[in-house]
Amino acid sequence: VLQTGIHPQPLREGALSDVWAYAQRTVSGQVQLNPTLFARSGGRLKVTLENRLGDDTTIHWHGMTVDEANDGSGLHPVRHGERRVYEFDIRNRAGLYWYHAHPHGQTGMQVHKGLAGLVVVEDDEELALQKALGLTWGIDDIALSIADKQFGLRNKIVHEVGADDWVGDKVLVNWTPDPVFEARRGWLRLRLANTSNARLYCIGFDDEHRQRLPFHLLGTDGGLLDRAHRMESVFLGPGQRVDVLLDLRDRSPGDLLMMRSVVYDPMENDVGIGPPEDFAMEHPGAMPMGEDMALMLIRMSDKPGGAAGTLPERLSTHAVGIREDAARRPFRLWIQDSGRWMINHWNHHLAHGQDVFEIRRGSVERWDITNDMRSMPHPMHLHGFQFVVTGRANSPKQVAERAIDPRGRTPHDLGVLDTVLVWPGETVSIQIDFSQPYSGRQRYMFHCHNLEHEDQGMMIGFAVI
Ligand code: C2O
Ligand code: CU
Ligand code: CU
Repeated sequence: VLQTGIHPQPLREGALSDVWAYAQRTVSGQVQLNPTLFARSGGRLKVTLENRLGDDTTIHWHGMTVDEANDGSGLHPVRHGERRVYEFDIRNRAGLYWYHAHPHGQTGMQVHKGLAGLVVVEDDEELALQKALGLTWGIDDIALSIADKQFGLRNKIVHEVGADDWVGDKVLVNWTPDPVFEARRGWLRLRLANTSNARLYCIGFDDEHRQRLPFHLLGTDGGLLDRAHRMESVFLGPGQRVDVLLDLRDRSPGDLLMMRSVVYDPMENDVGIGPPEDFAMEHPGAMPMGEDMALMLIRMSDKPGGAAGTLPERLSTHAVGIREDAARRPFRLWIQDSGRWMINHWNHHLAHGQDVFEIRRGSVERWDITNDMRSMPHPMHLHGFQFVVTGRANSPKQVAERAIDPRGRTPHDLGVLDTVLVWPGETVSIQIDFSQPYSGRQRYMFHCHNLEHEDQGMMIGFAVI
C-alpha cells in the first residue's frame, strides 16, 4: 500500500529466489536460515558446520578473537560433505559481530548468495544500557543486516566469478526487500551491519518532510563507545557495524521515517574519468554508489509501551590508551595498471598465500595505512584482533568535516574496530595489541572487505608467533 520508493525495480512477485544459507535445525525440528546467534562475553560458542554446498566453504567469525583453527579463513577450507566444529571462548566485549563464508577466492560469491549471519554478544555494560533505556530486544532494539544483491531472471541472485566491486540492484534488510518496521513511541535502537559485498552506505534518517533526524551513535564494531555522539549521518563500509539510537519519543502514530543511505562522494578515483558512465558500464543495472537510497521505512505504531528510559552519560568504561612507543608498520593501498589491487608489494595470489610477516605475540604495533589518491575507499579488516584508530591524516573533506578531535578522528573512530574505511589520499593509523591467550604459530589475514578486492588478492597473511 505504501509508496516507499525504496527500490528502482520491484522483484518479480511469486518467483522464489535461490539462496545459499546456513540452515539451523531447531529443537522443534524447524529450520531457520542464517540465524542470529546470541552469546555472552566469557561464554563459549560451539557451532557445527555440515557442508552440503557442493563447494569448499568455511565459517569466519568476523571481529571475534579466536585462534587460527577457529578463524575460518581460507587456510582451513571445509570440503563438501565434511563436518567441522568451531568452538571457542567469547573473549570479545558486547557488540554486534557476524559470521560469513570465507573460502579462498570464493568469499564474494558465497556471501553474495547468502552465506552470512549475525552474532549478538552481551555483557554487563550492555545489559545496563538496555535497562537504562528501557529497551526490549526485538521490539525497540533490533539488529539489521544490510546487503545489496544483484538479482537476475526469476529473482535469482547472481554473482560473476572474477567480478569487480559487486554492487547490487536491490538492497535487502534482514533478507527482506522493501522492509517496513513498526516502531513504538520511545527510543529505537538499531544495530546495523553492512554485510554487502562492496557497497558503502552513509546512514541517515529522514522524516516525511525530508528533514534529517539526528541520532546518537552508541557503538561500533567492537561495542559501546564511552559516551553517545550525536550525528546526522555515519559511513558504514562493507564489514562494519554501527549501533545507533533514535529518539522517537515525540512521534505520533502514523508518522513515517526513512532509514536511508544519504548522498556522499563515492570517490571511485581508480577508474579513469567520470564515475557515472564508468559505473554504468561496469555494473549494468546496479544502483550507483553514493546516491540517495531508501533502506527501510519506519512507521510509528499506536501500540503503547515504547522504551522510555534515559540515555546514560557514560555508556562504557572500556578505554584503550594510545601508545606512542608502538612499533610502526606502513601499508600502502594501490592499484597496478593491470587493475590488480595491492597492499605494499603484496597480493595474496602473488604471495601464493604465504605469510608476509611475523609479529611477536604480546607486542603492540601501529599500522599506518595509506591509500593512494588514484584509488577508492577500502574497508580494511583484520582477523583475530580488534584495534583502535589513533589518527587520520589527509582525509577528504567529507571525512575531515566529521572529525571531532585533533587527531582527525570521527566519532566512529573512537571505539574498538575490526574494519576501518581508508579513503583515497588518506592515512589511517591503527593500534593493535597482539596479546592473545594462544600459543604456537597462529596465522591471520589483513584484507580489504570489499569482497571482490579480497578475492582478487587484496589480502595478506601474517603470523603471530
Ligand atoms: Cu569478514 Cu576476512 O572477513
Ligand atoms: Cu573477519
Ligand atoms: Cu578494496
